[in-house]
Amino acid sequence: MFDFKYYTPTKVIFGKNTETKVADLIREFGGTKVLIHYGGGSVVRSGLLKRVTDTLDQAGIAYVTLGGAVPNPHLGLVYEGIELCKKEGVDFLLGVGGGSAIDSAKAIGYGVANEGDVWDYYDYKRKVTGCLPIGVILTIAATGSEMSDSSVITKEEGLVKRGYSSDYGRPKFAILNPELTMTLPDYQTACGCTDIMMHTMERYFTQGGNMEITDALAEGLLRTVKKNAVILRDDPKNYDARAEVMWAGSLAHNGLTGCGNDGGDWMTHKLEHELGGLYDVAHGAGLAAIWGTWARYVYKNCLPRFKKFALNVMEVPDQGTDEEIALAGIEAMEDFYRSINMPTNLRELGVNPTEEELVLMAKKCAIGVGGEMGSAKVLDEQAMLDIYRASM
Ligand code: NZQ
Ligand code: ZN
Repeated sequence: MFDFKYYTPTKVIFGKNTETKVADLIREFGGTKVLIHYGGGSVVRSGLLKRVTDTLDQAGIAYVTLGGAVPNPHLGLVYEGIELCKKEGVDFLLGVGGGSAIDSAKAIGYGVANEGDVWDYYDYKRKVTGCLPIGVILTIAATGSEMSDSSVITKEEGLVKRGYSSDYGRPKFAILNPELTMTLPDYQTACGCTDIMMHTMERYFTQGGNMEITDALAEGLLRTVKKNAVILRDDPKNYDARAEVMWAGSLAHNGLTGCGNDGGDWMTHKLEHELGGLYDVAHGAGLAAIWGTWARYVYKNCLPRFKKFALNVMEVPDQGTDEEIALAGIEAMEDFYRSINMPTNLRELGVNPTEEELVLMAKKCAIGVGGEMGSAKVLDEQAMLDIYRASM
């Protein structure tokens, strides 16, 4: 067991109609002029944005709005948001939407609170020393950005998708109303469930430090999301299932399921980020498409964890050798992905990279992780290329 820091400063307001509390929360955290940042328009169509602006109008809180954060959010809009905040004297950011709008808001917050080019942080050249305070109204359970220290931005030039992590970026509050996720397309719900499980699995398949209590939390979370993802496939308006998944999404990426271990593997995420950058695929679907190939590539190196996962999460029979049990667990996970209409390879994901593009992705991925990375198994550029090739 390793020493650890657990820091989750985000105030969570969970339940029906909780978005009505937004003005009080902004005041509580000192906001007087707000930038409401959102995505491609789902919050306009659902009426949520209007409800939020009405609430701020009634409370006498000034605001400006900036929509347009696309999935795999772009640096260009971040620059626009930074300029707008400076021009308007914004002192509080409200991200309304999914991980893309929230991550874009975090990047804007870094850009306003720090001098120089905000991309420097995502390019690992400098570290932030502050961030404008951020609040969140979440509309999709997926990334956990509502409580996480991470923000993932794509630079249009060269299609470079990079994550940056800092405690300064953790939101001050997160409003989690499961009802707001009921307008999601089924595909996005399934992508979200996949991402939530992957945030826990990245921390689970490690070589060291694992604690019994962390494993129990992780395995319980994985079983819960697996069960409720199937319920939502058949009954998308099921409030209790929406709620289970939404809370799991926050817990999966606020650090809880990594306490005591070595920090996690994270290579499935890194490999997916190249797919998201180059082909603009939905993050969760990209993860599902790569995970099985990654797992088969690394499992022998991390056999006890894969066996434990197979037995305790996928509930495969305790029969055969450790290797057979581990492989049965990987297959069961892929069957689960298929059952919620997630892809299990690149073809099913709908992308068909050329050999040149596979080489480019492996190269960019290796650069992005500083050469090599992984805990279940350390992967270098050649290993990354092998996995991309095998996931075709
Ligand atoms: O853009 P709008 O119109 O809002 O539509 C979105 C988008 O098309 C739609 N949507 C969201 N809520 C909806 C809805 N449609 C109808 N009803 C609703 N209630 O769903 C689509 C996906 O939204 P997006 O915000 O892109 O999804 P997600 O939350 O999965 O975010 C993905 C991004 O987050 C990054 C990913 O790489 C990707 O760029 N990640 C961020 C992390 C973090 N900050 O901690 C960690 C993750 O591992 C991940 O890398
Ligand atoms: Zn993720």
